[in-house]
Amino acid sequence: MSQQTAILHLPGQDPIELPILKGTAGNDVIDIRTLGAAGYFTYDPGFLATASCESEITFIDGDKGILEHRGYPIDQLAEHSDYLEVCFLLLNGKLPSKAENAKFKKIVSEHTMLHEQLSKLYSGFRRDSHPMAIMCGVSGALAAFYHDAMDLSKEKHREIAAFRLLSKMPTLAAMSYKYTQGQPFMYPKNSLSYAGNFLQMMFATPCEDYVVNPVLERAMDKIFILHADHEQNASTSTVRLAGSSGANPFACIAAGIASLWGPAHGGANEACLDMLIEVGHVDNIPEFIAKAKDKDDPFRLMGFGHRVYKNHDPRATVMRKICHEVLDDLKIDDPLLDVAMELERIALSDPYFIEKKLYPNVDFYSGIVLRAIGIPRSMFTVIFAIARTVGWISHWKEMVEQPGQKIGRPRQLYTGEVDLTFPKK
Ligand code: SDX
Repeated sequence: MSQQTAILHLPGQDPIELPILKGTAGNDVIDIRTLGAAGYFTYDPGFLATASCESEITFIDGDKGILEHRGYPIDQLAEHSDYLEVCFLLLNGKLPSKAENAKFKKIVSEHTMLHEQLSKLYSGFRRDSHPMAIMCGVSGALAAFYHDAMDLSKEKHREIAAFRLLSKMPTLAAMSYKYTQGQPFMYPKNSLSYAGNFLQMMFATPCEDYVVNPVLERAMDKIFILHADHEQNASTSTVRLAGSSGANPFACIAAGIASLWGPAHGGANEACLDMLIEVGHVDNIPEFIAKAKDKDDPFRLMGFGHRVYKNHDPRATVMRKICHEVLDDLKIDDPLLDVAMELERIALSDPYFIEKKLYPNVDFYSGIVLRAIGIPRSMFTVIFAIARTVGWISHWKEMVEQPGQKIGRPRQLYTGEVDLTFPKK
């Protein structure tokens, strides 16, 4: 089929033909790269209709509520895979063989420890720091320890940096929590699974043996899978833009963590639990629904709505299932689950939410599950950062390895003053 084009009629110019590029799924794109020569830019603050790159990693269909990683639906990955196998898939574009899976897991387990000097960095923070503030600092500081593998033109360096980040993020995260609790850091245990090791570093103490609860371990691993990657979201786009300048991968991931912290993005899980606690009882729900609908009230229903999903977020559906499984297994009767389910039921029958296609997103139930696992609220977004590190690295790697990759440099619509004369003194 011949190349399709879009014809653009501009004042005083001949029509411009812009190529239409076709993907394997989702929207086709209009290639506007030649538009600058005609004296125009496109204007799309918030990138509502802008494709920033070509990617093969994750596909989302917001209208159908589809999320696939390298073509595999998220609910199947959550059901049948584990987080490190999903990491291999995201990083390498295919599921690992049995031998590749075992080798990948062994390498990850061999990089979990930090340089002892790095742990001294924590003592510079206040004990009441938010763990995400600490994570922004210590993740970027990794670059101060790994000069031996930061030549991005070398595939081996890119690979070792990826392993170091994937392996060390749970260690950095657990240490960020332990530091705020005034407890000693726990060293990683290579004999444990990725999720089990994280739980051990979070909750074990040197005083007694710690046995990983298999229910919590499986739930934690699934939560990591559900948060692993999500196409060109704000934090991933931040990592890509930082990486486009040639910045080292540790600095790029630190930039991603900073962006994820926002309550409109990864900070929503913590904000959503705060909201459910504030609602407190199903009788109070109508008041909060009214606030969410009030244009003059900045309150948003946290855990609801999404830039892309205008249908159910498939991750929320899986997360709700995990929520019931964990609470049932642990025989926890959390009244917040009743509030969440009633809030979801009421919102999904309210014309405001129906018209605006606002559905629960991945953050709506995650807070309740994390609370049941014993993860403190302040660590919710840190959990998101651990899980999303593989998505950030996969996109960083894809961008760095893409032929003809250019530094990201958006333009603007300038509406300020021009050609003023500086007043003579
Ligand atoms: C994540 O991009 C990703 O993929 C992110 C993520 C990932 O995995 O990386 O999926 C993770 O960030 C999930 C989203 C978590 N955030 C929240 O739960 C915070 C609450 N949600 C909103 O802040 C909002 O829905 C966003 C930020 C998620 C999406 O915002 P958009 O796409 O910019 O939509 P919008 O703000 O323009 O809202 C459209 C309309 C507005 O009304 P109008 O101006 O058209 O009258 O819907 C309203 C908004 O007021 N609206 C809400 C609402 N979300 C949107 N009204 C009440 N409660 C809400 N939650």
